[in-house]
Amino acid sequence: MKPTVAPYPSARLRRVRKTAAVRGLVRENLLSVQDLIWPVFVREGKGEEEPIASMPGVMRRSADLIAKAAKEAHGLGIGAICIFPYTPLHQRTEDCAEAWNPDNIANRAIRAVKEAVPEMAVMTDVALDPYNINGHDGFVVDGKIVNDRTVEALVRMALAQAEAGADIIGPSDMMDGRIGAIRNALESGGHHEVMILSYAAKYASSFYGPFRDAVGATGALTGDKNTYQMDPANSDEALRLVERDLNEGADMVMVKPGMPYLDTCRRVKDMFGVPTFAYQVSGEYAMMQAAVQNGWLEGDKVMMESLIAFKRAGCDGVLTYFAPAAARLLNG
Ligand code: PBG
Repeated sequence: MKPTVAPYPSARLRRVRKTAAVRGLVRENLLSVQDLIWPVFVREGKGEEEPIASMPGVMRRSADLIAKAAKEAHGLGIGAICIFPYTPLHQRTEDCAEAWNPDNIANRAIRAVKEAVPEMAVMTDVALDPYNINGHDGFVVDGKIVNDRTVEALVRMALAQAEAGADIIGPSDMMDGRIGAIRNALESGGHHEVMILSYAAKYASSFYGPFRDAVGATGALTGDKNTYQMDPANSDEALRLVERDLNEGADMVMVKPGMPYLDTCRRVKDMFGVPTFAYQVSGEYAMMQAAVQNGWLEGDKVMMESLIAFKRAGCDGVLTYFAPAAARLLNG
């Protein structure tokens, strides 16, 4: 229904913007620390951390330091952390076997976090790219990304993560049928309470560039991901993907990237009314940070404005590299 607005001057819409108190009263959306999921990068070693050049302020950390960072994040009120591995080069192979190694660095980091902060929800990423020699999320056979064989590997990978203590499995690979296959395997493996947050509407985006640096997949990627990730021109297709993943057993869904796809977030939330998340990806973070470093944008303000946009678009929460900084601001 279209709201009716009285004519000027009975309607002076500026009345409710006059003071901070009234603006507070009529404010429609609020960002809370509890809405934030913090993506982190784990590397080999102990007591090691190194900055990622294309993501100012973001570190690769060894598992022990991830656990320490998780504890600090928990102290700030952040409820969930998402772990991405920087796999050593010699562990990237054509068969991607490291992906389901119970002791791979991602699984070790999951255990370290759960041990240090059991209350922290740990989310994972399910896709083969950090373990694949060619940077793709699935197996490549004759130049094609093969679906069903990849799904079998993703199931093994997800099970290993659940066994390491992951609370939320995040399939980011965009293969067909993976949510149902993972859900069945979790059920038969006794992991009834492990959630699936499906990267349901994941676009083939150029905004992932800095992330691929962070996980060391930049040089590796041969070709593009256009045969499995979505065309940026589409949004009806996102609704089909979300519906499909919900039917297969996803508990929550994600739209990714975030800022360029707020319209998709809104459509997903309106259509399904399920827990909906956006991923404010590495490139979004990097472009804001770059402008801030140049003095062209005000850091805190642009960060908070970008995050409230997700709430306005209907998201329940957001994965963002800004999580600790935003939490500090929100906590005052
Ligand atoms: C891997 C994956 C990617 C991101 C999250 N999981 C990259 C890709 O699909 O190429 C990107 C996250 C970011 O850019 O912050 N499947």
